[in-house]
Order: sequence, then structure tokens, then C-alpha cells
Amino acid sequence: MSAARGTRVAGKLAFVTGAAQGLGAATARRLAEEGAKVTLADINIEGARRVADAINARWGPRNAFAVHLEVTSEAGWIEALNAADAAMGGISVLVNNAGISRGGDIETLSLEDWKLVMSVNVDSVFLGTKHALKYLRANQPGSIVNISSIAGLIAAHNTPVYNASKAAVWLLSKGIALHCAKQGVDVRSNSIHPTYIDTPILDPLRQRFGKDEAEAKLGRQVPLGHIGEPADIANAVLYLASDESKFMTGAEMKLDGGISAM
Ligand SMILES: NC(=O)c1ccc[n+]([C@@H]2O[C@H](COP(=O)([O-])OP(=O)(O)OC[C@H]3O[C@@H](n4cnc5c(N)ncnc54)[C@H](O)[C@@H]3O)[C@@H](O)[C@H]2O)c1
Repeated sequence: MSAARGTRVAGKLAFVTGAAQGLGAATARRLAEEGAKVTLADINIEGARRVADAINARWGPRNAFAVHLEVTSEAGWIEALNAADAAMGGISVLVNNAGISRGGDIETLSLEDWKLVMSVNVDSVFLGTKHALKYLRANQPGSIVNISSIAGLIAAHNTPVYNASKAAVWLLSKGIALHCAKQGVDVRSNSIHPTYIDTPILDPLRQRFGKDEAEAKLGRQVPLGHIGEPADIANAVLYLASDESKFMTGAEMKLDGGISAM
């Protein structure tokens, strides 16, 4: 028999974007393991449903729900949040996790890719927060967790749009925190900054160099010597979603194996 369900986020009602796979799926599973109800939102609705079904199979029906969401669509956000609110009986945690990357340096990157990445990575946080706040306000204490990247704090020569978009998420998270504090609303907002984590987002590199070589190559850039696991990030989201972090807002958590210490 596996471990009993935890209670670190018991009673929390979480909405997680990009939850069909990778960090979003790991986060939804971890929050559910610690007592939260979760809505898994993704453009890949089949994938989101599979993860939600697995959570419900583990913890019982109506612990997890799946909704279709294109995070760049304002109408999509309004509809998905409304559906999540009805399904869970409220929303108290928003995890803005969906994100993408496109290669190309400042001279070779196309305007089309620039706009796409800025839209998926930044418009998403703006729209999601703008429309989720009324639900979070109604279910205080609330928490917004934005998945930025260590690439939002440290630049590289060949990832300008990923750097710029994740830096925008970093400061946007702080502005949201100050807005809520100023309004006297108990909704906190923080950002998480991972380095390379073992998810499908690394597949293009794995295809280019082979799985072992790609992961070893990335691991050599990390002082701890290896890439991270999805659970490393899910545990950080769990902390920020829970009341254990009740005095933390407008802050950032770097989960980068020591990269930013160099
Ligand atoms: N894995 C890493 O190495 C790493 C490192 C730093 C930051 N991040 C960030 O973490 C987040 C999650 O990354 P991941 O590694 O799990 O990626 P992933 O590619 O494995 O999963 C991303 C998920 O987001 C969904 N998605 C993509 N575009 C969407 C859209 N427009 N609307 C709705 N859903 C959409 C995808 O369908 C997918 O389920 C991203 O914001 C990413 O930038 C990842």
C-alpha cells in the first residue's frame, strides 16, 4: 500500500496550465497528492485528461478536472476559469506553467517566432492573472505561481526571445504581488526559475545529440553535475501554493543546481 494522502495543500483549488505533460503534469500530481483539487488546462486536452484520470484513479473521483485552454486566448481563459470554478467550487491557486521556446539568435530569429513565444510565455501570465484574480480574491488566501526560468535571469547568445519572455514573467510576478498587497488582498505572487529539467521540452536537443549525450552536455553546465527532475520543480510549486509560504510574495525561487551562483 502506498503512502496516505498528505495535507499540505488540503482544501486548495488549483488551476495549472500546460498540465498535459512535463512540469505542469508533475505539479498537478504533486498538489493532488498533498490534498488539493486540481484543474489541468492545456491545448492538448487528451493529454490533460489522461493525467486527470490518473489522479482521480489514485485519489478518488472529482479531485482532478481537465479543460481545454489556449493560453494566448482571452476568451479561452474566461471560459476555462469559469469551468474550473464550477467544477472545483472555486480557484485559490493559479500556476502559470505553459511555455515554449524557439531557437535563433538576435539576427536569425524571425518576427513570427518572437511574437509566438512572447505571446505563449507572457500574454498567458497577463491574461491568466487578470481573469483569475476575481476567483482568487473570493477564495483567499490565494497564490499565483509563475514558471519563469533561470533563462529569465541569465542570458545566452542564442535564446533572445526565451530570455526576454522569461525576464518579463519574472518582473510581472512582482508587479502582481505589489498590486494584490496594495489592495489588501491575501493573494501572493512568486516566480520559479528552473534550469534544465527532464521533460519533453528537451526533446529537440535529445534528437540532435542522442538522449545520453544531450543530458550529459546539459548536466556539465550545472554545478551539481546533472539536470533536474520534474519533482524538483513540483515541490517548489507545492511550497508556494501552500500556506507554508504565507510571508513570501514578489519573490523568486531559483532551482538551477547552482548555475546562478557562478
Ligand atoms: N524543462 C525545462 O528544462 C524548463 C526549464 C526552465 C523553465 N521551464 C518552463 O517550464 C514550463 C513547463 O515546461 P515543460 O518542460 O514542462 O514543457 P513541455 O513542453 O514538456 O510541456 C509544456 C506543456 O504546455 C502546453 N502548451 C504549450 N503551448 C500552449 C498553449 N499555447 N496553450 C496551452 N498549453 C500550451 C503543452 O501542450 C504541454 O503540455 C515552461 O514555461 C518552460 O518554459 C522548463
